[in-house]
Amino acid sequence: MAPFYYFQVMMMMIINITFLEIKSVWQNELWPGRKDIETVSAMLYLSGYSMTNFQLPAFYFGIYDTTKLIGVNSGHLCDDGSFRSRGLWVDPNHRKNGLGVRLLQKTIAAGKSLNAKFCWSLPRKTSWPAYERAGFNLTSDWIKTDTSDANAYCKHDYQPQG
Ligand SMILES: CC(C)(COP(=O)(O)OP(=O)(O)OC[C@H]1O[C@@H](n2cnc3c(N)ncnc32)[C@H](O)[C@@H]1OP(=O)(O)O)[C@@H](O)C(=O)NCCC(=O)NCCS
Repeated sequence: MAPFYYFQVMMMMIINITFLEIKSVWQNELWPGRKDIETVSAMLYLSGYSMTNFQLPAFYFGIYDTTKLIGVNSGHLCDDGSFRSRGLWVDPNHRKNGLGVRLLQKTIAAGKSLNAKFCWSLPRKTSWPAYERAGFNLTSDWIKTDTSDANAYCKHDYQPQG
């Protein structure tokens, strides 16, 4: 990678964006063809659902390269006191530069700022290296879901486990 390009990528700021901004990326890039894209998910960690999730705080993060949104992720509080990381995506032209890990770290920090019990997600197997590098631990087997052939639950604890 050219050093100047790397410097440019490192200088790119993660900012708060709107749901409509992130939704257009999710619709066109991450979940093409999916019609029911909601602000948050009703899923709870490991099992169950709660519609209360829709009334709790949510964050949408993005990285712009001038006017183009090239990376996004979201995080929202869940009814069980956990914080869900959801919808991570980085533009193929900007991958492998650490943007995915930075978006995850920002999301983890947002959950911590709300005193969430822990942060969790359900990544695809193909994206697991970024989650692992951001400090998540795998907490289930790989399973088939609506969005991919292999997803697993993972968790980032805010308190040391012991
Ligand atoms: C998953 C995804 C978000 C990762 O984004 P990314 O910006 O490439 O992620 P990062 O660069 O932070 O980390 C990814 C990999 O690059 C490596 N990496 C991080 N910084 C790096 C650097 N400066 N130089 C080289 N490699 C680096 C990481 O170690 C990681 O490991 P890997 O090579 O084993 O894959 C991206 O691939 C993507 O959008 N995929 C399609 C959508 C998707 O699957 N989203 C997740 C849904 S759960």
